[in-house]
Amino acid sequence: MDTIVVMDFGGQYSHLIGRRIRDMGVYAEVISPRRTKESLEKIDDLRGVILSGGAASVYADDSPKPDREILDLKVPILGICYGHQLLAHMTGGKVESGDVGEYGISNLSLTVPNSELLRGLNEQEEVWMNHKDRVVSMPEKYSVVASTESSPIAAFANNSGRYGVQFHPEVTHTSKGEKVLENFALSICEAKRDWDPSGLAPKLVDRAKDYIGTRKAIIGLSGGVDSTTAARIVGKAIGNDLTAIYVDTGLMRQGETNSIKSTFENSDLELIVLDREAEFLEKLEGVKDPEEKRKIIGNTFIEVFTEKARSIGAEVLVQGTIYSDIIESGSTTHSDTIKSHHNVGGLPEKVDLDIYEPLKDLYKDEVRQIGKSLGLPEEIINRHVFPGPGLAIRIVGEVTPKRVEIVRHASNIVENELKSAGLYEDVWMGFAVLLPVKSVGVQGDLRSYKYPIALRIVESEDAMTANFARIPFKVLESMSTRITNEIDRVNRVLYDVSNKPPATMEWE
Ligand code: XMP
Repeated sequence: MDTIVVMDFGGQYSHLIGRRIRDMGVYAEVISPRRTKESLEKIDDLRGVILSGGAASVYADDSPKPDREILDLKVPILGICYGHQLLAHMTGGKVESGDVGEYGISNLSLTVPNSELLRGLNEQEEVWMNHKDRVVSMPEKYSVVASTESSPIAAFANNSGRYGVQFHPEVTHTSKGEKVLENFALSICEAKRDWDPSGLAPKLVDRAKDYIGTRKAIIGLSGGVDSTTAARIVGKAIGNDLTAIYVDTGLMRQGETNSIKSTFENSDLELIVLDREAEFLEKLEGVKDPEEKRKIIGNTFIEVFTEKARSIGAEVLVQGTIYSDIIESGSTTHSDTIKSHHNVGGLPEKVDLDIYEPLKDLYKDEVRQIGKSLGLPEEIINRHVFPGPGLAIRIVGEVTPKRVEIVRHASNIVENELKSAGLYEDVWMGFAVLLPVKSVGVQGDLRSYKYPIALRIVESEDAMTANFARIPFKVLESMSTRITNEIDRVNRVLYDVSNKPPATMEWE
């Protein structure tokens, strides 16, 4: 498979560059800036290298810089933002801090028509900038191919396959950004569009074999597509040395435990079901803070897994973490902690098991395609995502058994009504949230004072952004009627019309 690597210098959009290249059908992988030239030469069919953006200044002593020899690789190299400055700095050009930064949309003027990298762009194009430093003098044998008012050297090229752009072609605000990346990957690197996420499974299986070796491993199954796909991959790699564990936290969706049991009943994977409801609910008693709840749940999961791993002699814990979990947990260089996903930031600092995350560079839709290629049932592939901390983060404030029961029932109604209306597979997730306040209502001529339920139904491609779903009022009304009729402690239903950002999908 032709491959383009993206060296990640810590920019917020480094991962998006990889994603955009994969979207055009070329395999791209985000790699550490510490990789050596030698290790890159070992990548089969390496077609090109992209140096990502990053927040550092190239002249700072501690700024991340690649192995100098990388520049001697025989394949084309494209620097983006910090990568553009890095390329200039490392090949004899000069970078300086500008008087003012250039943030947001800028007007790019092509100084050379029809350059290889910017072919297909108009003479003037809108590009998205996010920088203070800029290239002020060119390395020898390079020429400027485009400029903006603040960045006279906004794009450059030489005749030996080295290119730089100060703007970000990977963000959608750059109107022809996709074209620039296509020019690089398809024309300049001549990469073939032979990437199909469904074909990645064998590669992931080989990697898991190499990583885990002869050790035993366990995986926590939640029934969702991520952990099930990870289990299939590692199961293919190490066979019976993998044991799957499903922890019933008491915070699961209606019927979840039985559905997991029946899904794995006839599979080769050994599944252990542990009923730990009492332990989880007891630890959550009186806890209101969302991050604290997430941490308690993460820690308890790890305690359970460690105990089980010890008893079966496993050294590796496999997790179905995907990329959006990592970025939101603040685990990449420049991302803030939005919420500690139970399987990433929610883990205790010291874990005795070696954690292996085969899907951590992939987005949900890519995982779904891989899952499909591995023959997972549609029901699992299309099942709405369910967060590791479960219903605990769908109850705002304190978690009590009664509240869990209410939110579980209400969520089940939401899912069933979406299915009856034929909308279940059109949305990313649909669920209920219990709010810890009460309001007055009237039911059967009597005054009631009960909880409200918020309905949260969202559309999303990859969980990084989302829109509230435009559900027909008729469907919302039947959800509302069923919830207030069937759940005694609820007298009011609200519809959450917030997008992400500024809200997140889950309320906690
Ligand atoms: P947010 O609320 O961050 O959710 O917009 C994005 C997606 O991630 C899911 N989510 C989680 N998944 N462990 C998971 O495995 C977690 O701790 C977790 N928190 C949120 C959420 O359900 C949504 O699909």
